[in-house]
Amino acid sequence: MIIMLSRLSRSAPRRSIASVVNVAKRQFVQPSGADRASVVELPSEYQDETHLSPRADMLGFKASIPKREDILSMKPRPIYLDMQATTPVDPRVLDAMLPYLSDQFGNPHSRTHAYGWESEQAVEDARKHIADLIGADQKDIIFTSGATESNNAAIKGVARFHKEKKRHVITTQTEHKCVLDSCRKLGEEGFDVTYLPVQKDGTIDLAQLEDAIRPDTSVVSIMTVNNEIGVIQPIKEIGALLRKHRGIYFHTDAAQAVGKIPLDVNEMNLDLMSISGHKLYGPKGIGALYVRRRPRVRLEPLLSGGGQERGLRSGTLAPALVVGLGEAARVAKREMTVRNALLIDMMRTAQDHARITELANRLITGINAHVEHVVRNGDVNGYPGCINLSFAYVEGESLLMALKDIALSSGSACTSASLEPSYVLRALGAAEDMAHSSLRFGIGRFTTEAEIDFVVQHIIRTVQKLRDMSPLWEMVQEGIDLRTINWSQH
Ligand SMILES: Cc1ncc(COP(=O)(O)O)c(C=O)c1O
Repeated sequence: MIIMLSRLSRSAPRRSIASVVNVAKRQFVQPSGADRASVVELPSEYQDETHLSPRADMLGFKASIPKREDILSMKPRPIYLDMQATTPVDPRVLDAMLPYLSDQFGNPHSRTHAYGWESEQAVEDARKHIADLIGADQKDIIFTSGATESNNAAIKGVARFHKEKKRHVITTQTEHKCVLDSCRKLGEEGFDVTYLPVQKDGTIDLAQLEDAIRPDTSVVSIMTVNNEIGVIQPIKEIGALLRKHRGIYFHTDAAQAVGKIPLDVNEMNLDLMSISGHKLYGPKGIGALYVRRRPRVRLEPLLSGGGQERGLRSGTLAPALVVGLGEAARVAKREMTVRNALLIDMMRTAQDHARITELANRLITGINAHVEHVVRNGDVNGYPGCINLSFAYVEGESLLMALKDIALSSGSACTSASLEPSYVLRALGAAEDMAHSSLRFGIGRFTTEAEIDFVVQHIIRTVQKLRDMSPLWEMVQEGIDLRTINWSQH
């Protein structure tokens, strides 16, 4: 069967997600112009304040300066389901941080007075909380600016330190950009890098990993939870396999896993682990790198300077951020382990993982009950707070545009800026059109059932509406198998 493309003339030309998002963003941050005249006098605390937070009504392209009645009625902002991009700071974390932004301002490296000592104590307490969360010794935790820096420091650091004898690195095709780019840089420096493929469910094949190991392999870097599809790699099994090969260091990018699923560096035979503050309800701009001391992992530091953090990361620490990350780790551990917390606490937060699993099931069953041809990308047993769904016969950008009451991503924050379908979905073998129609639903500690119900209803209505306008969908309804069509251009 030959069908001319002109039959598709009713569908809008394909635009990139980036162009759609950019239009929305431009209109959202535009000064209000004529609308300013109608701004009702604001309460004094709002005078002269430009409010740019993305409320739904603003995304409807209205004024960016809020009206008094808007502030007072607190119109809802879009529902936030983008927890892999970042998580909100837990109020308990903020409380812990505040003193270190005011009275307790000492430099934690000042050894001669109380200001320094109290900051140092706070830093060491935070280090302990992080270590406790991953079963590590507190001396093995190095503070960094985030998981990007930790990944760079670990992969480049180990590879460069051992470069005289070893010049091979192994990673996977579905790592975060900062891991892939660190490896690309090593490639430019003369290292060989093996990028392992993944199976259809997104996990690696252990036999392929074993085959890839060479006598000159120095570091294997495999992420714990994938940021686009939530797939959990078999870290414990990988650790056991690598333990049989002496002299290979095992690093994991656990930015999306720490505080979400149980991790233990000893059980998993991990030598290095990257952690990010803002993915676990802590502040942005802070992270950590676990570096095993026994047996000692040697790495070449990225920075030269005062020799702080065991000489591995020079520079004055930011105690408020460090304390924030520490408190986020303490709270996360509590959320993971305390089943019989005080009733009031249970009602407020319950257990993160159990709640998020329930909400994810609610989302998936709610959508599946009313929308056909939805595919979940990646292993169904992945992390439930990251659900990646493809909606066949719907253009991703139209869907994203129509869902402006929901803050969502169409893949990773980085890939959504490019025209290319996500490299992670491509590595799974997803067809290009399915990769283009995918959305990532990031559920977190503060997501509510009511929000999920709203999202489900919104998705059902929107997908139906978009499909009703799609000639492809009409053909599918007529029973035409689209794979038998020989498309031609004229
Ligand atoms: C898996 C993964 N690794 C690393 C990073 C980078 O983390 P950070 O923002 O702390 O540098 C991210 C953030 O998106 C991530 O999802």
